Amino acid sequence: MTNPEDKLMLRALKGETTPRPPFWLMRQAGRYLPEYRKTRAEAGNFLDLCYNPVLAEEVTLQPLRRYGMDAAILFADILLIPDALGQPLAYKEGEGPVLDPVRSVEDLKKLNLEFIHTTLEPVYETVERLSKSIPDDCTLIGFAGAPWTVATYMVEGHGSKDYVHIKKWAYGDPEGFGQLIDMLVEATISYLGKQVEAGAEVVQIFDTWAGVLPDDMLRKWVVEPTKRIIEGLRRQYPELPVIGFPKGVGGNIIDFVTQTGVTAVSLDTGTRLEWAAREVQSLVPVQGNLDPILLVNGGPAMEARIETIIDTLGHGPFIFNLGHGIIPQTPPENVEKLSRLIRHRLT
Ligand code: CP3
Repeated sequence: MTNPEDKLMLRALKGETTPRPPFWLMRQAGRYLPEYRKTRAEAGNFLDLCYNPVLAEEVTLQPLRRYGMDAAILFADILLIPDALGQPLAYKEGEGPVLDPVRSVEDLKKLNLEFIHTTLEPVYETVERLSKSIPDDCTLIGFAGAPWTVATYMVEGHGSKDYVHIKKWAYGDPEGFGQLIDMLVEATISYLGKQVEAGAEVVQIFDTWAGVLPDDMLRKWVVEPTKRIIEGLRRQYPELPVIGFPKGVGGNIIDFVTQTGVTAVSLDTGTRLEWAAREVQSLVPVQGNLDPILLVNGGPAMEARIETIIDTLGHGPFIFNLGHGIIPQTPPENVEKLSRLIRHRLT
């Protein structure tokens, strides 16, 4: 049994520059893998897969069997929280998630914080199973969406390009909108706390749409709620490593890192590497930031960029990852190539 202290991922999160970077990939389980598509078909729909501990465990393990990542990420979705709060949710083929939008304080009355764990219980069982079945040197990551990003889906009712409804609510009635954010902060602390209790060693908070806010609103709806979640978790788990992923925030990532209390931060594809090495990695370990489309393309373009990323960020605490999730068009053999390139750097 490997001592948990020896796991590469946990060493990097403690601030150590490791002999090679640990690696995992956001959305590493998914439709680019034929075995995922098979299990997904067996489960019926996507939500049934998320709430089936045996099948959710299976799809979490699938990429590890092929590529030996240094971390496993629980298979679930950020929209399980709205589902557990009682907001009707469906995943439509080719369309993504669709929800009955909540757009006012009146609408919030339809949601209920009290019974979320009844719905979410199978997720904790998946974590528990994984904590026993992943390889000894692999780290188990739990996750949740950040309140802002989860709220974008809850208020818009689907993915969005312009975020008109949520921004109108946040600008026009900050107090009312704040009630939704408060509810999500509370649900997220409780949800992530249960994942840790079940065996998650690290948690990541995905704030995919943080980058659509001006800086004052970023502070109010991204930085503050994230800070409160981390404070809430650390009251129970003082040592818990938390990775933040405020996608698209540019230079505001410095405020995010210094004010939220994150252990590490994930860098999106657009982040300037030399700048991040100097200004961000001097504060906390960093993770990222290969363009997921380079993983679709593969070949010398991908290989050259992997080298550049490791040359620039590999001299400090660093976790290799993408700048956003893997997309379904990704050829599995390109992931294989990436995995070999990174793991061979050991010797
Ligand atoms: O990383 C992993 O392997 C763990 C699983 C994971 C999923 N979603 C599974 C999933 C994680 C970490 C997420 C996070 C997530 N979900 C985010 C934040 C990160 C990001 O990618 O931006 C967001 C915004 C969502 C919401 C969501 N879920 C959307 C917009 C969609 C539809 C678009 C798409 O890619 O299909 C989903 C569905 C979803 N979540 C799938 C998977 C594997 C595809 C569903 C399917 O199998 O049909």
